[in-house]
Amino acid sequence: MVQEKILHGADYNPDQWLDRPDILKKDIELMKEAGINTATIGMFSWDKLEPEEGDFQFEWLDSIMDTLYENDIKVILATPSAARPAWMSKKYPEVLRTNERGEKMRHGGRHNHCFSSPIYRKKVTIINKKIAERYKEHPALLMWHISNEYGGECHCQYCQENFRSWLKKEYSTLENLNASWWTTFWAHTYTSWDQIESPSSIGENEVHGMNLDWRRFVTDQTIDFYEHEIKDIRKLTPNIPITTNFMADTMDLIPFQGLDYYKFAKHVDVVSWDCYPAWHNDWETTADLASKVGFIDDLYRSLKQQPFLLMESTPSMVNWHPVNKAKRPGMHMLSSMQHIAHGSDSNLYFQWRKSRGSSEKFHGAVVDHDNNNQNRVFQDVRKVGESLEKINKVTGSSKKSRVGIIYDWDSNWAINDSQGFSQETKQYPQTLQNHYRFFWNNDIPVDIISPKADLSQYDLIVAPMLYLIDESSLDKFSTYVANGGNLVMSYISGVVNEHDLTYMNGWPQQLQEIFGINSVETDVYYPKDRNRILIDGKSFEVKDYAELFDVKSAHVIGTYDEDFYAGQAAITENNFGKGKGYFIGARTNQEFLDYFYSYICKEVQICNDFVIKGNDNVSVQSRKLSNKEVFFIMNFSESNQKILVSSETVDLLSEKHVNVEINMLPYEVKVLEKRE
Ligand code: GLA
Ligand code: ZN
Repeated sequence: MVQEKILHGADYNPDQWLDRPDILKKDIELMKEAGINTATIGMFSWDKLEPEEGDFQFEWLDSIMDTLYENDIKVILATPSAARPAWMSKKYPEVLRTNERGEKMRHGGRHNHCFSSPIYRKKVTIINKKIAERYKEHPALLMWHISNEYGGECHCQYCQENFRSWLKKEYSTLENLNASWWTTFWAHTYTSWDQIESPSSIGENEVHGMNLDWRRFVTDQTIDFYEHEIKDIRKLTPNIPITTNFMADTMDLIPFQGLDYYKFAKHVDVVSWDCYPAWHNDWETTADLASKVGFIDDLYRSLKQQPFLLMESTPSMVNWHPVNKAKRPGMHMLSSMQHIAHGSDSNLYFQWRKSRGSSEKFHGAVVDHDNNNQNRVFQDVRKVGESLEKINKVTGSSKKSRVGIIYDWDSNWAINDSQGFSQETKQYPQTLQNHYRFFWNNDIPVDIISPKADLSQYDLIVAPMLYLIDESSLDKFSTYVANGGNLVMSYISGVVNEHDLTYMNGWPQQLQEIFGINSVETDVYYPKDRNRILIDGKSFEVKDYAELFDVKSAHVIGTYDEDFYAGQAAITENNFGKGKGYFIGARTNQEFLDYFYSYICKEVQICNDFVIKGNDNVSVQSRKLSNKEVFFIMNFSESNQKILVSSETVDLLSEKHVNVEINMLPYEVKVLEKRE
């Protein structure tokens, strides 16, 4: 890892205040007071760096970089491609995006350029190279931040052409393409490459293989643009790490839906992401939400199996949730520490200072419009800065998980696109979050991984609702279980291959062997429909989906209680080679998942050695240093909580001795180290 200590910093937009030297001076004073050691700058500075075409103005940035350096503040320097100056859109309209209806966008906003436009690429090359040349030796330069939150898609003629080239590479012949896309359906057969256009709500959108390929293409094209952005930067600064900030989607904090980050992560040196949970909302508990944050942290850490950076978070509220609520006292410390606990080596904010005008003037910031250090938010940030200083030793340390939960972008896209099941209740990422919840509640570390990951390092693989599984992954699962692995799968898995074509002649052979069953039918419930699963005299609710299967070699753990399949298998367990395959036939509530995974964890002998008696509101995560482990104990609730651990410790934050019985105040966090 590049840094020796945890980064504490913020997106800093001095370009908004260049006519206010008093503000710029105050910024530095306040940064020092808040314990800020990093500033991320330049994300949206193109208009100041190149106010007119070819007229480059770097003096202001020189001065900002120098001042930050003189004050011991490192710089994460961004390339400005996320927003363009107006002169560029006016002179070269091709840089603007075209939407799926073929409408050319107008100038404005941000994150809306074409990834293929030769002119945009040329302009980006020029500005990025100039920035890299100018600052390559600058002692403040810590890392590159390429563009900002890449996302979206463009359907202009350049992009259509690139899509067709991508397809030619993928399929070589139109025969292959037509067969893979099943285009004989509704007379959609293509007889020439130039007939193919990107999916559109006013054109082709029912060819699922094409929709899936378009999404794959959008990821590849975005990465191609990113690679174009970093070409000279890499050459000029081979030793400066490069990142770009990833996102989560919606208030549900599910993985970002637009891009396959497994692919993208291979191109960055460090994964970083922007996290904006709706803390204290009125539809879920704090622990419910915290577990979702943990899920994404674990996914993004697992992308490279190394520490990541939290690139953006708000010290108080955002401006884009339907309701923008302030963090309650204690929440800023707790939510900041949570990311560190899951493997982040930073706690960075959007934004350092609230702007005076435009859309983000009410977005939380370290410095408010009052321009001083007297308010609660500033003091909360200062306290986080102080606390991070006390746990710098965790920087660069990893986590070790024996459980892998599989999340797959292809499968997610394909199942969402499928016209079947129930449009409302598919909820693939949310289902994974529910399964994850057991492990979070029980403080069992988890990696979230791709089906293409090396499975052999895990004792347990959990792969619910894996709708799309390609042939090679089917073989991989077989090998994994045959060699002693434990695999959990559920309803709606192994339905289609990589082209979104269903498997013929029944459920894939490999799955039939692993699980000792043959899945034959999936029943879909109306929202109010319910069934039950009976296990050992207990009964658990079934909703949304129930799969029916013929049992071959499997041992039946639970059966359905009602309907025409009453008495038939719902939950099974099967020995295959040296390992076991467990199958969950129906969607249940959390109570069943807790019961089921408690059983599996006993079987596989996975539990947290440190936590003797845990608590569903208290999350325990740890980071492994070379000679010791550091435990983060976090109370995600509004009341006092208790846990029991196996040894006495010292709290690195309070420097106090901690007994094996740990009492936690609301929102309290402790960072514990075992006594020598
Ligand atoms: C994103 C962007 C930032 C800012 C924040 C606001 O993460 O990258 O520039 O707009 O959202 O929450
Ligand atoms: Zn385009």
